[in-house]
Amino acid sequence: MAYSNKVIDHYENPRNVGSFDQNAEDVGTGMVGAPACGDVMKLQIKVNAEGVIEDAKFKTYGCGSAIASSSLVTEMLKGKTLDQAMDIKNSHIADELALPPVKIHCSVLAEDAIRAAISDYRNKNGLEQGEYDACQ
Ligand code: FES
Ligand code: FES
Repeated sequence: MAYSNKVIDHYENPRNVGSFDQNAEDVGTGMVGAPACGDVMKLQIKVNAEGVIEDAKFKTYGCGSAIASSSLVTEMLKGKTLDQAMDIKNSHIADELALPPVKIHCSVLAEDAIRAAISDYRNKNGLEQGEYDACQ
């Protein structure tokens, strides 16, 4: 199976690897696992007073596509409001990275991680969870 150049680039030079203080008020943490393979992804967002994501970091214990997906997502998140971030779909990530069908679930993991991080931030700050139509 051939990986796209973009996957290889994000895998070899992952952007924004690391973590923020999980207890900080302005940080949301999403920790999710893929049932299909057991890979785990931790994604954190740092949100400013205007409700805009100003920074994002990740740690992923998983395959190359999961690492590339989370790296790409940290770039996509910066500058977005929480609602805009909720609109990022795994299909955007999979298209951007040209993931093959067997690797789609790796991008679903990244989508789940975004939602989990936003949900954690909103919980912590007493905000409503907002609308999300889960894809069945
Ligand atoms: Fe499972 Fe990639 S193979 S996250
Ligand atoms: Fe998950 Fe459609 S976004 S299956």
